[in-house]
Amino acid sequence: MRTLPQYYADAEGKRRFTRRVFDSSASDYDRVDRLFAFGTGSRYRRQALLRGGLAPGLRVLDVAVGTGLVAREALRVVGESGSVVGVDPSAGMMAQSSLRGLALARGCAEALPFADQSFDFLSLGYALRHLADLEIVFREFRRVLKPGGRLLLLEITRPEGRVAAAVLKTYLRGVLPALARLVARSKDTPGLYRYYWDSIEACAPPGRIMASIAAAGFTGVAHHVGLGIFSEYRASAA
Ligand SMILES: C[S@@+](CC[C@H](N)C(=O)[O-])C[C@H]1O[C@@H](n2cnc3c(N)ncnc32)[C@H](O)[C@@H]1O
Repeated sequence: MRTLPQYYADAEGKRRFTRRVFDSSASDYDRVDRLFAFGTGSRYRRQALLRGGLAPGLRVLDVAVGTGLVAREALRVVGESGSVVGVDPSAGMMAQSSLRGLALARGCAEALPFADQSFDFLSLGYALRHLADLEIVFREFRRVLKPGGRLLLLEITRPEGRVAAAVLKTYLRGVLPALARLVARSKDTPGLYRYYWDSIEACAPPGRIMASIAAAGFTGVAHHVGLGIFSEYRASAA
């Protein structure tokens, strides 16, 4: 991951920065997502979980659970016989979640507060670019998954075409922060959405992400991009 000196200086600074902006704009997150997040809504998240192999009865860990938008869909899929645990460093984001049956824990992807081989399925929704060291994170994901457990990462990827990239940049860096300002309660929310594009541009490219997943002990690593921007990374714990 490339560092963004206009926001933070190093890995520790990135952790502090993301925790602060998500804590302070948490009460706006679901509303902005619902109004303006073109396609990353509940139906897309549920379909992506199913494509990733989620099934009734599985024990799921949703890392970067935030307000619970991925976890809510996971709960619907696993049903009464399964379970979903969410983990996130932002107490503010998790405080917005009121999902029945969702267990929450405070913690970071880099040091998950769970025993080895605790889960059948691990999801991470739209947080890859907020992490500083993917090698550490993917080794941690492998550690908490049972052998054969499934991994699903969702992320927005910079489009390859110059025109598409320019259109997305204009929307995410210009239009979305302005729209967010109209509906936000927190003064930090527009800044969070401006940071979104910068973090998408600074994110490691798909090839490097796939290589890091494989190096951490996963097999069958696959990457699918919908509409040129919605990335899904899938793999199985070896
Ligand atoms: C854009 S939100 C995504 C929330 C949810 N997964 C969704 O799909 O809506 C990103 C989340 O990543 C969390 N996050 C940031 N750094 C993290 C880290 N090091 N480990 C785990 N989660 C982190 C933030 O606190 C925030 O809740």
